[in-house]
Amino acid sequence: MSKDTLTITDNRTGKQYEIPIEHNAIRTADLRQIKTSVEDAGLVGYDPALTNTATCKSKITCIVGDKGILRYRGYPIEELAEKSNYLETAYLIVKGELPDRKHFEMWKQNVTIHSMVHENIKKFVDEFRYDAHPMGILVGTVGALSTFYPDAKDIFDLESRRLQTRRLIGKLPTLAAFAYRHSRGLPYVYPDNDLSYTGNFLSMLFKMTELKYQPNPVLERALDVLFILHADHEQNCSTNALRSVASSQVDAYSAVAAAVAALYGPLHGGANEAVIRMLMEIGSVKRIPEYIKKFKSGEGRLMGFGHRVYKNYDPRAKIIKRVADEVFQVTGRNPLIDIALELERIALEDDYFVSRKLYPNVDFYSGIIYQAMGFPVTMFPVLFAIPRTSGWMAQWAELVRDPEQKITRPRQIYIGEGARSYVPIAQRPQPDMREDAVSESI
Ligand code: ACO
Repeated sequence: MSKDTLTITDNRTGKQYEIPIEHNAIRTADLRQIKTSVEDAGLVGYDPALTNTATCKSKITCIVGDKGILRYRGYPIEELAEKSNYLETAYLIVKGELPDRKHFEMWKQNVTIHSMVHENIKKFVDEFRYDAHPMGILVGTVGALSTFYPDAKDIFDLESRRLQTRRLIGKLPTLAAFAYRHSRGLPYVYPDNDLSYTGNFLSMLFKMTELKYQPNPVLERALDVLFILHADHEQNCSTNALRSVASSQVDAYSAVAAAVAALYGPLHGGANEAVIRMLMEIGSVKRIPEYIKKFKSGEGRLMGFGHRVYKNYDPRAKIIKRVADEVFQVTGRNPLIDIALELERIALEDDYFVSRKLYPNVDFYSGIIYQAMGFPVTMFPVLFAIPRTSGWMAQWAELVRDPEQKITRPRQIYIGEGARSYVPIAQRPQPDMREDAVSESI
């Protein structure tokens, strides 16, 4: 008869252990009982990049990597991208269900009224260097919000959590737009609450002397679809950073600032910026084979390709390809798209990429669209952080409510020196002899 357990034999001691399996997972804490002696701290799981470790049970986003499936709360991303809008999708992600008309109107109102930021935030942004990366500004300003809302410390209060969620979703576009205007030396534009979520964002970015900014409806919808596609992606690097930091019971602004920082990296939210730089460096379709050769030999990576979870075409990349065509009808064709399409065609026929299941991810085409819409590359990860805020807040609320969660504190396998005595500086080896010994750690 089959049993939902795993039997382990420890060949060091000959002892057997029976460990429960739940949801196709064992609890690595159950390994701790496996010891060779009473002093032994017990067996640990070693998983340096958490490649095969679940850190939570979640009801928010489902990814089936082998099949290229992404669903928010059960709804396929393709349907949401076609029929929903970002604010409705954000509601779905945060609250778990699609809203009825009345609740959607209330949600829209509740998010919109939080689009303003304290005037001191404006001064704070002003003090960044003229060429500060907007993502650096975003990390700083989101973190600074915690000082404006000390009530956010009350993380176990439902109303407080709801308020911080509406504030963050409402304010992120404003902070992002201020960061952009600062880098351009332009005056900040205050939110226009008559416009849609993305329409208002475009207004805060691009409004010049006109009394009222009218967003182009195609670009407004394209950005909205891109926001839907980026709203959540289960336990990715930034969400894991958010959960880890939030597990200390810090306020949501500090935790989201950590998530934004994680998103800044070129292997995560910075990848679409890296894609554009790569495409510009390649420069022409003719040079693609030369670059493919480089990537295969480990000299750089084909940015925008590969994913920790998707071992098939990223479903978001398919939708983005369609959005690109619509955007180019308005903006004119971004010449980088031809290099990208050919790069994709060649890579998907090459055994190196096929055998490693490396397909285009969401970042492969998103940067090309953003560039065509007039965004500088430094704004790309910012455009990712805005919609991801709804996902982060849903993940945060799930963490806070989960009785199984504790402060995140992984184990390590110590491989350093054994105990040794302090040596006074005068008695230590000469600098030239020590050089090699210290260089490893810096
Ligand atoms: N180009 C060339 N080779 C690659 C690439 C790539 N883009 N991605 C992975 N590989 C190769 C690796 O060299 C490795 O080969 P090997 O087995 O011969 O050593 C194999 O494929 C597996 O790669 P890993 O690095 O182990 O895969 P991992 O799951 O750790 O990394 C990641 C996933 C970070 C996304 C990786 O594919 C990558 O660096 N891609 C480029 C950056 C990128 O597009 N990031 C965006 C991710 S999506 C997002 O964050 C929204």
